[in-house]
Formats: sequence, C-alpha cells, structure tokens
Amino acid sequence: MSNTPSSAIESVLVENRVFEPSARAQQGARVAGMAAYQALCQEAQADYEGFWARLAREALVWDKPFTQTLNATQAPFYRWFEDGQLNASANCLDRHMGTEVETKTAIIFESDDGQVTRVTYRELLERVAQFANALKAMGVQKGDRVVVYMPMTIEGVVAMQACARIGATHSVVFGGFSAKALQERIIDAGAVAVITANYQMRGGKELPLKGIVDDAIALGGCDTLRQVLVFQRTATPVNMQAGRDVWLHDALQGQSTQCPAEVVDAEHPLFILYTSGSTGKPKGVQHSTAGYLLWTKLTMQWTFDIRADDIFWCTADIGWITGHSYVAYGPLAAGATQIIFEGVPTYPDASRFWQMIERHGCTVFYTAPTAIRSLIKMAETNDAVHPKHSNLSTLRILGSVGEPINPEAWMWYHEHVGGQRCPIVDTFWQTETGGHMITPLPGATPLVPGSCTLPLPGIAAAIVDETGNDMPNGAGGMLVIKKPWPSMIRNIWGDPERFKKSYFPAEMGGTIYLAGDGAVRSADRGYFRITGRIDDVLNVSGHRLGTMEIESALVAKTDLVAEAAVVGRPDDTTGEAIVAFVVLKRALPSGQEGKQLATELRNWVAKEIGPIAKPKEIRFGENLPKTRSGKIMRRLLRAIAKGEAITQDVSTLENPAILEQLANTH
Ligand code: WT7
Repeated sequence: MSNTPSSAIESVLVENRVFEPSARAQQGARVAGMAAYQALCQEAQADYEGFWARLAREALVWDKPFTQTLNATQAPFYRWFEDGQLNASANCLDRHMGTEVETKTAIIFESDDGQVTRVTYRELLERVAQFANALKAMGVQKGDRVVVYMPMTIEGVVAMQACARIGATHSVVFGGFSAKALQERIIDAGAVAVITANYQMRGGKELPLKGIVDDAIALGGCDTLRQVLVFQRTATPVNMQAGRDVWLHDALQGQSTQCPAEVVDAEHPLFILYTSGSTGKPKGVQHSTAGYLLWTKLTMQWTFDIRADDIFWCTADIGWITGHSYVAYGPLAAGATQIIFEGVPTYPDASRFWQMIERHGCTVFYTAPTAIRSLIKMAETNDAVHPKHSNLSTLRILGSVGEPINPEAWMWYHEHVGGQRCPIVDTFWQTETGGHMITPLPGATPLVPGSCTLPLPGIAAAIVDETGNDMPNGAGGMLVIKKPWPSMIRNIWGDPERFKKSYFPAEMGGTIYLAGDGAVRSADRGYFRITGRIDDVLNVSGHRLGTMEIESALVAKTDLVAEAAVVGRPDDTTGEAIVAFVVLKRALPSGQEGKQLATELRNWVAKEIGPIAKPKEIRFGENLPKTRSGKIMRRLLRAIAKGEAITQDVSTLENPAILEQLANTH
C-alpha cells in the first residue's frame, strides 16, 4: 500500500450541486424515497442473516431450499445458503417459461455492421439448451472448467449460460487479451475446452480469435485442454486441427433443444474471472452460484429499478465482470429486455451509442466514464456526432461504472444524454464484489456529481485506517466491507493463501474485506467518494492492470531491458495512462533511436498482455530512483510522470542525479 490516505484528504471535493430524485423517478420505483432505502438498511441491521434469507427466498428458484443462511466458521472463506441447490441458467431462463416473459424479447443484438437480431426468452432457452447438449456430447462435465474467448455476440452469452446449465465453471477471457495471457488463464484454470470464434468484428475490422487460441496452445503447457469449439462469425477460413477443433454449427447438428439444468450446490463455482492484482500474476476470482446470482438480480431491481417494459443496455464486454453481472446474468435473471452490441462506440462514427439508444428505445443505459469522456471530446470537435441530434427521450436512468466519474463528465452526461431528467447511478464495485456495492438508487438518493453516494442495503461499507479503526467523515482512509455479503469473491482459484493475504489483512483481524481503494465520506451527508487504488493497480479506460504485470512483460524482453518500473499518470480521457521507466541493457538512447526503441517496447507489451496494457509513454534512464536498500521510489516516478517538479523529500534517495535524467528523456 504505497500512496494511502494523505492523497485522499488533499483531494476532498468541494461539490455543492445536489440533484434530488424527481417525482417521476420516484413514481413506482422499487425503492422509492430515502425512507424506503433506510427501512431496508434497518432490516439488514436488525437481522443480517434474516434479511439475506428473505431476499434469497424471494428472488431465486431453489431446487432444494436452504436452511442455513451464512456459515462463517471458516472465515474468510464464507459460505452462503450452503445446503441449498439450484441452477443459474434455470434461474435466468426456465423460470420465465409459462409467464409473460416467455415470449418477450430477451436480447436485441446489433452487430458491428448494424444488423439487428432479436431473440425471445423461449428462443434463448432453446439455444442455450442445444449448446449445453453439444458441450455434454463433447464430454464436458459438471465441475470442468471451460474458457470462453468470444466476441460480444448472442453466442457469447449462450456459451456462458450453457456452461452454467451443465454445471461447468466458465472462465471468460476478454477478446483483446494476447495469446500469452490466454495461455496462462487456460493453464491456471485447468480448462478442458475453449469456446471461441474464428474472428471478431470490431469497428469494421476483422480481428482473429481462433488464430490466437492456436498461438496460446502452441506456447505449451495447456495439458488439460482437449477441445476447441469454434463459432463461425465471419466467412474467412481458419485452420482447424482434426481431433481437437470443432465448428459450433457441426457440434449443434442434431442436438436437442431441451436439456434439463444440472442442479448444483449454492456454493458451486459458477465462474472464474481473472483480474489484475499487485503482483505479476492475475488472480482467478472465483464466484459462487446462488449468492452471485441473487445479487446480480437484486441490483438490477434496486440500482436500475428495472421494470417489465425497460430496454436495458450495458455496454460492457462479457470479458469483464460488468458484462458477466449486467449482460450475461443479471438482466436475464430479472426477465429484462437488453441490447447487446458487438462493436465500438466510434464506428461508423462517434454517434453510434446515441443512434442505438434512439433506434432501440433504450430506457436504462450503463457505460463507463472513459467512453463518456471520449465521446464528449468527439462531440465538441465534430458537432455531427453530438447526442442532441438523436432522440434520447426514452432514457430514464443512466449508469456509470469502472472508475471515478469526474463532475464535468457527470454534468455533461446528465445534461446532454439524460436531458436533465435522468438520475445517474455512479456504481462503485469490483470484480471481487460480484455486483454493485456503493451506488445511488434512482428513485431515492439525492445525487452529488462525482460521488457514488451510499452503500446498498446490507453492504457494510466503511472507511478505516491501517489497523481497522473507523475514520471520521471528511478524513480519507481505506475502503472496507465489514460483513460478508452473498456475492463476494469465494477464493482465488487454486490460491487460498493469496486470497486471505490480498483481501483480509491480518492487521484488521482477518475477516474484514479490503477493497484496495482509498475513499472519503463527505462531512455533510456521509457520501462516499472513491479516491483511487491504494495498491499497485492502475485503471486505464476502466480496465484494471497491475503495474507488476506490465513490468514483468517489459523485463521479459531480455535482449533489451534490464529493469522497468511502471506508474500511472492522470489522463483526461482514459483516467490513468501508463508511463514506463526503462533501464536498457545498452547505453542511454537518444533521438531517433530512443523513439524506435520506445515503439518496439510498447508493441512488445501489447503483444505480451494485450493492447489495453500498451504504455502511453516510455522513458529511458541509466537507472531508477532507489533508496539505499534498493527499493524503487515510485512516488518520485509518479511525480516525474506528471511533469511535476520534485518538491518531495529525497533524502533517502541513493542516486538523486537520476531524477533529472528521467525528467528530461522523452
Ligand atoms: C476497480 C475495480 C466494477 C466493474 C468494473 C471494474 C474502480 C469501479 C468505480 C466507481 C470509482 C470505481 C475501483 C475498483 N471503480 N467502479 N463507480 N467509482 N472507482 O471492475 O476491473 O474489478 O475494477 O475499479 O478502483 O477497485 P474491476
């Protein structure tokens, strides 16, 4: 934990604008008014387990009802609804059969090139069942791990649901990750199969997926992997290895569209999703079936106030947790109609989102600040793509996720997209939390731009110091969740020690969840504001990246790099930008040579991890600023990256001359 509370205190926001929920937003809302919110909080306070038991009984369909709500005997390995049994896919699909949802549109899919496909809940169930039968015929069994490396398509969601249906644990890998990142995840998860597509379409370009799967396997070590199932997204051929690779359309041939859902224990791992931590190796965040599903459904109802006639659109890719909770599971569990979009917000131009909202009558729109900020920039330089040219009158709720939303972007979103009538829910949560933790409720919470406001009922969020003591309002500290909650991370796949060490610090007693973010509560309302990570994790365009991960990639280029240190620098569009300080195995380069080497290294990182990890800037030095004991002084590197003069104490620095060199070499 390198840059804790002090930075949080310095940047306390003075924000006097408050937006009370309109009568229209309150009307008929699931949680209408602050009194209703407080009543739920009090219910959780009075009888914590009873509160969760009630919600779990009401929200989910159980094949075997649970009798025990929370088992904390192995804390922090908490177990929820332990003796209950159910199936996630049955709770998203089968449960709607025979209701008015059966014939309702589940998915409005818009492809990169603008073709629209609609699927009803009944059709989706049949497609999932058929896919599940194909997986079974391939020998995939309950408990097996399956890696999903798919584009944003109906088939991507169907693949995830099909795994859940047969009790296989999926691990989705974002289609922008490299062969090496994919290989590491296949090995760590011990996957028996990979589900992929020949290509993916993004921004009018055809990008490989199957070819990268081949490369990943060729890197070696994927010993558990038996089969690769390939969805044919485009007409371009790919190599198919006999005995290993199967076309999806062939595998589906002759399979029944009925497949009884496999009943699993509440704690059965529904999925593993890899995310970055402080060390080099990504963590396989393991989620449960019942607790996870409960929270994705409830937060659809509470945070998005989802209603029968809503057209919900979460723009996140299924490769991230947001795409798991608010594309693949939550909307379906809640019986909502949702838009799924294959492409990118800037193709064919930067009005794509606004045009799609108009075209499909979107009512609840959920996206990331980085997307909003880049669309603001484009609208400001090219009026033709400004949202004012689209009819956005169907919108009633806007959402933000992934990073802090700055008040300027919040105000623009509110005014130009929401027409000043839509509440903005700034949802704070993480891969590990499974669903929203701290967020306004659209029909209840007065909004303050830049603040995620208050914890959801039942979520015991607090701000503490290093030893777990509560901080007063107005003072920054570390964000923790003091009580376990149903959708929390269950383990780091295959690494229970790291799970305990990363999230449940012994100094705080070993049972309190440490989020890894700094936060501060406002003096007046006690509203939370997230001030950024307190560990070595960066947030670039809402994507989470470990500095060590990027450093490991850089030093893996052994012919060139002796040492590397990576820090984040604030960036207007991407939130943070990656700046890498590199010591070469050759003399300090200058001019053209330096530029060339920087390009080579940036491309190398993109190839090792994925384009999202590409450093924005590389600076070369003969050394890095270190203490006498050899520790790299990152706070100095952060200051240099920002272009700040070094006013900090450098008395512990072994080699002060290096600062000037690093400040000048770019
Ligand atoms: C980190 C988690 C939550 C799904 C997408 C990201 C940051 C997330 C907010 C927000 C301020 C936020 C935090 C968090 N973050 N939402 N509304 N306000 N910061 O999931 O990749 O696991 O990243 O994203 O730093 O720890 P993730």
